[in-house]
Amino acid sequence: MLARGAKLRHQGRMNPALASVLTPLLRLIDAETAHGLALRALRLGLAGSAAVVDPRFAVHALGLSFRNPLGLAAGFDKNAEALAPLARLGFGFVEAGTVTPRPQAGNPKPRLFRLSEDRAVINRMGFNNAGIDAYVANLARRPRDVPVGGNIGINKDNADPERDYPALVRALARQVDYIVINVSSPNTPGLRDLQGEARLRSILAAIRAGSDSHPPLLVKIAPDLSAEGVASVVQTCVEGGAAGLIVSNTTLSRTGLASAQATQAGGLSGVPLMARSTSVLRHAAREAAGRLVLVGVGGVASGADVLAKLKAGASLVQLYTAFAYEGPALIPRLLHELGAALTDQGFASVEAAIGADL
Ligand SMILES: Cc1cc2nc3c(=O)[nH]c(=O)nc-3n(C[C@H](O)[C@H](O)[C@H](O)COP(=O)(O)O)c2cc1C
Repeated sequence: MLARGAKLRHQGRMNPALASVLTPLLRLIDAETAHGLALRALRLGLAGSAAVVDPRFAVHALGLSFRNPLGLAAGFDKNAEALAPLARLGFGFVEAGTVTPRPQAGNPKPRLFRLSEDRAVINRMGFNNAGIDAYVANLARRPRDVPVGGNIGINKDNADPERDYPALVRALARQVDYIVINVSSPNTPGLRDLQGEARLRSILAAIRAGSDSHPPLLVKIAPDLSAEGVASVVQTCVEGGAAGLIVSNTTLSRTGLASAQATQAGGLSGVPLMARSTSVLRHAAREAAGRLVLVGVGGVASGADVLAKLKAGASLVQLYTAFAYEGPALIPRLLHELGAALTDQGFASVEAAIGADL
C-alpha cells in the first residue's frame, strides 16, 4: 500500500517488479557473473525506472539536496559505469568506487560468496577496478538529478596513502558531489591501519595541503573498531576538516551464521551486520555531537531498518547486499515502508527522525 502522499511512477522498458522477478534467476549462476550481468542490463536500460515521490523524504546534508535518504553503497558500481540507470531505480544518491589510482585485477576468483540462509554476502574482491582515468571518463555520464559520491582507495602494490588519496581527491574535485576516503576495506592488507589517529590525521592534512577546494570529505570506517577507536576517528575527522563519516564497511566477525560459506575469508555484509553497524553508528553520532554528517550502512533490508539508522543519527542511509538479493523492486518497497514507519512512529519527515534515539 502506498503511504499517504507517496506516488509511484514507472517508466522505461521493464518495471522494477519484473526486473526483480528475474533477479532470483541470477542467483542460479555464480555471484560475480550475476553481478556483471546485472550491471550490463542496467547499462542497456533494461531495469526501467521507478520513483517514490514523497516530500517527507527530502534531506539537506553536506550542502546538497537529496530527494530521499536511501543511497547505493560503494562496491556495486566500482567503475562508475551505470550510475544514471541506478539513479533511475529511485535511489536518493549513488556512490561509485572504490577506485584506486591505477587499474588492478583484485584477488583471484572466486571471491564473492552468497550466504543465502543468512541474507548475507562475504566478499574479498580486493579493489578490482579500472583505475581513476577510466572512472573519471565514465563520470561524464553521471546522473545530474541526484548527488553522486566518489569512493577512493589505494592500490595493493606501491601505495603511498599521503600521495595517493590527495591525487584522487584532485582528480575527482569537479566530478562528484562528495568524496569518501575508504580506510576500512578488510581486503587490502594494511588499509584498516589507516583508521589509526596518526595516519588518518596525516592523510587528511595531505589532502588539505594538496587541493584548494574539494567536495565534502567523508571517512568510511569498519564496524570492528573499538569504542575508543570510534571516538578517536570522530575527533580526528572533526579536527582534520572532514564533513562526515560512513558507518560502516563490511565486518570480519562471523557470529551467528548458518550458511556453509560462512568460513570464507573476506568482509561480511547483509542482515547479520545490521545490529553491530547501527550500534557503532549510534556511538559515532554521540561522539560527533552534531559536528559530522553520519551516513548509516550495513544490513539494511526494510523501511524499519532505514528508520532505525536515521534515529541512531544517520542523515543518509546506504545499502548494497539487500539490493543484490532483491533487485530493483527493493527501492520502492523500502521507501513505501519508510513512509509507513514515519507515520506509525509520529515523525513528520525523515529530517525529524534523524538522531531521535540519541
Ligand atoms: C561485493 C561487495 C563489494 C564491496 N566493495 C566495496 C568497495 O569497493 N568500497 C567500499 O567502501 N565498500 C564496499 N563494499 C561495502 C558496502 O559498501 C557496504 O559498506 C557493506 O556491504 C554493508 O552494507 P550492506 O549490508 O547493505 O551490504 C562492498 C560490499 C560488497 C558486498
